[in-house]
Amino acid sequence: MDKKILRQQMRRQLEAMSIEQRRDRSRQAIERLRQLPALNAAASVFCFVSHGAEIETHDFVRELLSAGKRVAVPWLGDVNLPRGAPGDFMRAFFIERLEDMVPGRFGIPAPLRKCDQIDAVCELAVCPGLAFSASGGRLGRGAAYYDRYLSQHPNMLTVGLCFDFQIVEQVPMDPRDVPMRHLVSERRVIDCGQR
Ligand SMILES: Nc1ncnc2c1ncn2[C@@H]1O[C@H](COP(=O)(O)OP(=O)(O)OP(=O)(O)O)[C@@H](O)[C@H]1O
Ligand SMILES: [Mg+2]
Repeated sequence: MDKKILRQQMRRQLEAMSIEQRRDRSRQAIERLRQLPALNAAASVFCFVSHGAEIETHDFVRELLSAGKRVAVPWLGDVNLPRGAPGDFMRAFFIERLEDMVPGRFGIPAPLRKCDQIDAVCELAVCPGLAFSASGGRLGRGAAYYDRYLSQHPNMLTVGLCFDFQIVEQVPMDPRDVPMRHLVSERRVIDCGQR
């Protein structure tokens, strides 16, 4: 299947979820993520801050911070940076509290520029996506922000966080797609056997 069609299908299913379903499934998935030994072992964690129909991560990010971990979140550049312009890539900033976030580019929550920018060496990265496969395939939104970022930080342990219906038989992968090491959904934790 082609990436574009799979993205459309997944967007449709994500938008069809009720607020309650999203809330409940997010909580269950986060509960499983919380129990992941690699997460507990990590002193520094990169995690996306959810928006729209994405799996809810706000409480989880707060929890990581109160547990004393260093927490980095994505930054996609200044609000009016055109797509494809120089500097159009994802960076990570450490935050100290979730209140350090403001609406950013594409309406995605972004850290205030006063935050400590890093060329991150977090131990683990919690990644969003539209679809995943049990072998670690990941389909994002089509900008390769995560592929580019993760390929520059190959020692980060990659964890895909998603609703269970987002785990499909097969995800079209090209050589630059960075695979996930673990998948966590509201129903299961999968060791993808990568690396
Ligand atoms: N490391 C890379 N450097 C430059 N271009 C890349 C890289 N990885 C992928 N691309 C290109 O970027 C485009 C989008 O990639 P892709 O469809 O895999 O994005 P995605 O994984 O859905 O997005 P994201 O990683 O932001 O969630 C493709 O044309 C792909 O070839
Ligand atoms: Mg990709």
